[in-house]
Amino acid sequence: MPNAIKNNEHYMKFRAKLDNCKHYQKFLAYKDKVLAMGNDSLEKTIAVAVALCLVCAVLVSFGAVALKPLQAYNKNYDMKKNILDVAGLLEEGMDVDKAFAERIEAKLVDMETGEYVSNMNADDYDQRKAAKDPKQSISIPKEKDIAHIRAKAKVSKIYLVKDGGNIKSIILPVSGYGLWSTLYGFLSIEPDGQTIQSINFYDQAETPGLGGEVVNPKWRALWKGKKVYAETAQPELDKGSIEEAEIGEPAIALIKGSVDSEKMGAEYQVDGLAGATLTSNGVTNLVRYWMSKEGFAKYIAKIRKKGATS
Ligand SMILES: Cc1cc2nc3c(=O)[nH]c(=O)nc-3n(C[C@H](O)[C@H](O)[C@H](O)COP(=O)(O)O)c2cc1C
Repeated sequence: MPNAIKNNEHYMKFRAKLDNCKHYQKFLAYKDKVLAMGNDSLEKTIAVAVALCLVCAVLVSFGAVALKPLQAYNKNYDMKKNILDVAGLLEEGMDVDKAFAERIEAKLVDMETGEYVSNMNADDYDQRKAAKDPKQSISIPKEKDIAHIRAKAKVSKIYLVKDGGNIKSIILPVSGYGLWSTLYGFLSIEPDGQTIQSINFYDQAETPGLGGEVVNPKWRALWKGKKVYAETAQPELDKGSIEEAEIGEPAIALIKGSVDSEKMGAEYQVDGLAGATLTSNGVTNLVRYWMSKEGFAKYIAKIRKKGATS
């Protein structure tokens, strides 16, 4: 049976039911009564306002439900763009979905052991949601919580950029408190587990022009080639409030002012954000936290041991 006839039949049945419904008949009678009232009538004003509210509520609810899949797709698309960006693979006009599928591999890491988790699907896993769920997270003792995040997910979602089986980049999710907000981003490192490739923050609410400069490409470019872990005893950092690091501990830090490349320890230092020392300290602390034993240090040590092909 053609669809048009079938739909028409359904409509006729629906109309017949509606015409037999006494509430609908009452509604029609009330509608005629209200429309016959003068425009100054209080009852008409209230009835029209209520009807308008109902129509708007139905439209907004319909919009929210109908647009949900599109919103989810856009969120996912944006995340893929951020990951390609921190991996240095994002190009103008590229097919983001295709490039992501071809170049990036998502993996889940057990934060206790640093091993990959194989019995969960990385694509369905939402680490930020897991961090808020007491069953899927671990609360961080205050003295260790330098990133001020209170809890971390037991399982982290990391991304690998591979080329012919060899790891080119390890992309780690990082988060921590700045001045006004929790900053969420990605840190991309070389397979040596020591050299930084890039950093980006995709979600933060620091002041634009001050702490919000964390998204400035010029500032982000300063991170390339910097080292994470102290290979030698670290000199005290100039005027910053960041303490020096022990050998093997994360030493990377934002300093007040500009880095003097001639000075010892410059490879562990990044220019602080002008007029935003508090956000800068937050960034230092969050990167140090996630690169410490509390964060990804165990996983990174394993990658280093197995070599770049793991
Ligand atoms: C409206 C307003 C917004 C600010 N936003 C930030 C910010 O996002 N990040 C930050 O570190 N400092 C911000 N500050 C400045 C801090 O209060 C503080 O003065 C600053 O971090 C000190 O950095 P400095 O020693 O580099 O000047 C803001 C100040 C004002 C008045």
